[in-house]
Amino acid sequence: MERISISLPENLLEEFDKILREKGYVSRSEGIRDAIRSYILEHRFISQLSGEVAGTISIIYDHDAPGVLERLTDVQHDFSGVIDSSLHIHLDRHHCLEVIVVRGDSDEIKQLLNRLKATKGVKYAKLTTNVAEVPG
Ligand code: NI
Repeated sequence: MERISISLPENLLEEFDKILREKGYVSRSEGIRDAIRSYILEHRFISQLSGEVAGTISIIYDHDAPGVLERLTDVQHDFSGVIDSSLHIHLDRHHCLEVIVVRGDSDEIKQLLNRLKATKGVKYAKLTTNVAEVPG
């Protein structure tokens, strides 16, 4: 085992600990190990996608973050070739949920996902897809 030390915003740690209590974890380290495993599995799932895919990218962002709306619009215009449509939901006073329907080349969709994740103000971005070809 390696020992690491990390810095986290207090509210992030509080929420993480709350989840650990709900799930019945007795050790924060075990919770962090499982969270890292999930992160790796998600990365593997996305890495292995190839060819044509269809799915959705959900993002949650803080609409008060300076310039975030403009940056998100720029990114989505850059990838208009793989974006079919999008749906905007005002979650609370500060947060917006956007569901972007994507279809096309998986490499381009992965790039779009990474751009969205890297956009300042975006707190969450997840690609959901298992549709490559419909069997039968
Ligand atoms: Ni909104």
